Amino acid sequence: MTTTLAQHAEAEAARSSAPVTAIAVRDLRMSFAKRGGGSALRPRVTRVAAVDGISFAVKKGEIYGILGPNGSGKSTLIRAISTLLIPDSGEVKIFGLDLQKDEAQVRRLLNRVSVDAAFYKKLSPRENLLYSAGLYGIPRAEAEAKSLEILRRLGLREKAFYEPLEEMSRGMQQKVAIARAFLASPVIVLLDEPTTGLDPKSRRDVQEFVLELRDAHDATIILTTHDMPEAERLCDRIAFIHGGRFVAEGSADELRARVGGNATLEDAFIQLTGDDLHSDDQEDT
Ligand SMILES: Nc1ncnc2c1ncn2[C@@H]1O[C@H](COP(=O)(O)OP(=O)(O)O)[C@@H](O)[C@H]1O
Ligand SMILES: [Mg+2]
Repeated sequence: MTTTLAQHAEAEAARSSAPVTAIAVRDLRMSFAKRGGGSALRPRVTRVAAVDGISFAVKKGEIYGILGPNGSGKSTLIRAISTLLIPDSGEVKIFGLDLQKDEAQVRRLLNRVSVDAAFYKKLSPRENLLYSAGLYGIPRAEAEAKSLEILRRLGLREKAFYEPLEEMSRGMQQKVAIARAFLASPVIVLLDEPTTGLDPKSRRDVQEFVLELRDAHDATIILTTHDMPEAERLCDRIAFIHGGRFVAEGSADELRARVGGNATLEDAFIQLTGDDLHSDDQEDT
């Protein structure tokens, strides 16, 4: 059960005062078939590794950043952790529960937000949140109060609660998507590029909102981004991902120190991966 598990984790932390591991990923691999070359009659199909042997652990209450350019494997990794993709091999444990063996239990602990969050765009934020609350089994009155509280915190004018979502800015819609993920007070939230494509003001708002929600819910968060300042601002620890592999991991300070001098995080990324974060920037997927 969700509460029992969370309570168990807390009790464990109090006893040992050692941080509890919320997410443990071991040697995860995921590849996709790609067509290319060969002849028309015998097209060559090769397997391309999108996630190529990734291992890491995230502590309870941590915001863990995965920083890398487009195509580096961030979304594939997030999908595998959120049980949307079955990996070729490797292991994911959520508070000691196995992702595949205990899928039903794990699903209750996790929530994912991606840039392509699906909404009923003709409905208002309030209606969307109440609908999701219903799916989560949150009682109507509680859902109503919780949704209104969240919408106020999002900085929404009262009038906008009732207006169709499609009339709102992308930044606002993204906030509603993140709010929805936190509605059921999940223990773990996976945020896949929550600020990509947003204007600077909305990006800032969403970042503040994420920090606030983490503190309010004591959630554990994995966040992917290709924005250096965002990773520095939000993440307790950061992993550089490149070509489906983790190239380095540590706090922003630790990563900078690894290349020495007055290196910025961007310098560290370029030196440690041998690549530029923006070299292949395209439309995000
Ligand atoms: N469903 C899929 N089918 C085939 N290839 C895919 C699929 N999803 C991702 N890939 C490939 O896997 C690699 C990693 O993609 P992705 O995880 O989306 O990276 P990111 O989120 O960092 O941009 C890319 O080469 C991409 O083309
Ligand atoms: Mg992606």
